[in-house]
Amino acid sequence: MEDGNLISSIVPILYLLSAVLFIVGLKGLTRVRSARRGNAIAAFAMLIAVIGTLLEMGTIHWTWILAGLVIGSLVGAVVALKVEMTSMPEMVALLNGSGGAASALVALSQLWGKIIEPQTAGAQAAGSVRSVLGAAPAVTTVLAILIGTVTLSGSVIAYMKLSGKLKGQPILLPGRHLINVLLLGASLVLGIWAVTQVLEAGSLQSLLLVVVAASLLLGVMLVIPIGGADMPVVISLLNSYSGLAASMTGFVLNNNVLIISGALVGASGLILTQIMCVAMNRTLANVLFGGFGAEETSSGGGGKHEYANVRSFSSEEAALVLESAESVVFVPGYGLAVAQAQHTVRELAAELEKRGAQVTYGIHPVAGRMPGHMNVLLAEADVPYEQLLEMDTINPEFRNTDVVIVVGANDVVNPAAEREQSSPIYGMPVLEVWNAGTVIMIKRSLSPGFAGIKNALFEADNTMMLFEDAKKAVQGILTEVKDL
Ligand code: TAP
Repeated sequence: MEDGNLISSIVPILYLLSAVLFIVGLKGLTRVRSARRGNAIAAFAMLIAVIGTLLEMGTIHWTWILAGLVIGSLVGAVVALKVEMTSMPEMVALLNGSGGAASALVALSQLWGKIIEPQTAGAQAAGSVRSVLGAAPAVTTVLAILIGTVTLSGSVIAYMKLSGKLKGQPILLPGRHLINVLLLGASLVLGIWAVTQVLEAGSLQSLLLVVVAASLLLGVMLVIPIGGADMPVVISLLNSYSGLAASMTGFVLNNNVLIISGALVGASGLILTQIMCVAMNRTLANVLFGGFGAEETSSGGGGKHEYANVRSFSSEEAALVLESAESVVFVPGYGLAVAQAQHTVRELAAELEKRGAQVTYGIHPVAGRMPGHMNVLLAEADVPYEQLLEMDTINPEFRNTDVVIVVGANDVVNPAAEREQSSPIYGMPVLEVWNAGTVIMIKRSLSPGFAGIKNALFEADNTMMLFEDAKKAVQGILTEVKDL
């Protein structure tokens, strides 16, 4: 068999193998236990896809490929090693942005390489993009440019909001919805015009730059009105967009594995977005257009003056309650992440287990500020996976639990979600910690959580408030428990 024939029969097999491995890898990511393996399988699938693409391309300038490989691997390795676990959402935002940019650049390079340059050099007669590339690739090229650039600028804004380089509160410009509709309309109309009309190479070039500028601005306008705390949802959505853009690029390049992997990213990003919205009992439209968190006290405050009968306790008193506890559930929240209390919590858990208590952890799907936030932190502290119980599993268990220790969580244990129809979080599934014998609630003050509302749990008869930084409080309890 000739080399060319051999390659053209091997490449589809490599692509098929890679697509199957992407799906197997994704399946692995659905369980904490198999997540590492899933990640490795997906990375291997990407390697096979890259090899397939290089074989398919045929004549390759190896120096460029090697230079890209070395520089990309170095940057990726350094960033991945340096980034703090708590800064992961920022890193994912930047990676999504890079994915969007790559798709847009590939689509643009197709137009440059196949139309603008040959026409400028006089090697090709003037003709519309549609007549040169075909109708479907022409449409998907425009969509790849549009979605890719929206993803790029939107992700940069998300990164800046999360890293504090831009104010986290929603920035609500007057007439923003109209501006967005106009920008989207302009990008689409000009993009379609660019690929359907017979244009001079220079005019096509200018028109494409206008489309890129309009979609970049659209990305900024779409993300800037969203509050910093909603950024995880936005990042997941942008992740889905980057997948869509990659899929469109797959159509442009007629590359099946890119179409499949892009579609997988697009669909999984959308599913994660939906899971987060359901767990917060909010619609995607409310996250994207609601300006949640624009006024911090808009949803009921929850300040000191609103509470009566709050009883403050010391770490010594908390330790005395724990002394006789046979079952203890830790419920971590955003405050645990802020205080970096996961290792101290693990130490306290080990001490309680040594004294015969059964210890588990109740994990709410949107505790903290990013998907899997608590799982990641607790895994970092070597908490055994089997002790992490999801909300549906742990909720029926609270009735038989002696003590729940809430470490820096607030909204995810707020009974208003079940009891107060007027509450902004009414209907959000929460951890029913109030059913336990005693609730030790660790936080620094009576300040509200992300939702900005009162939490009646602070006043409950079986709640002991321990007002301190989470790490110091847990350390204090640990010292007292050891002294008992
Ligand atoms: P929150 O309801 O936001 O409450 C966190 C609590 O931690 C605050 O009340 C704060 O009280 C306390 N805290 C802060 N720093 C602390 C420290 N150093 N030591 C001890 N306590 C500290 O957190 P949650 O219960 O984890 O709920 C998460 C919220 O974020 C939900 O409303 C959810 O909808 C939202 N959200 C989550 C996600 C994802 S994907 N996880 C995405 C978007 C939105 P003090 O200031 O009094 O200490």
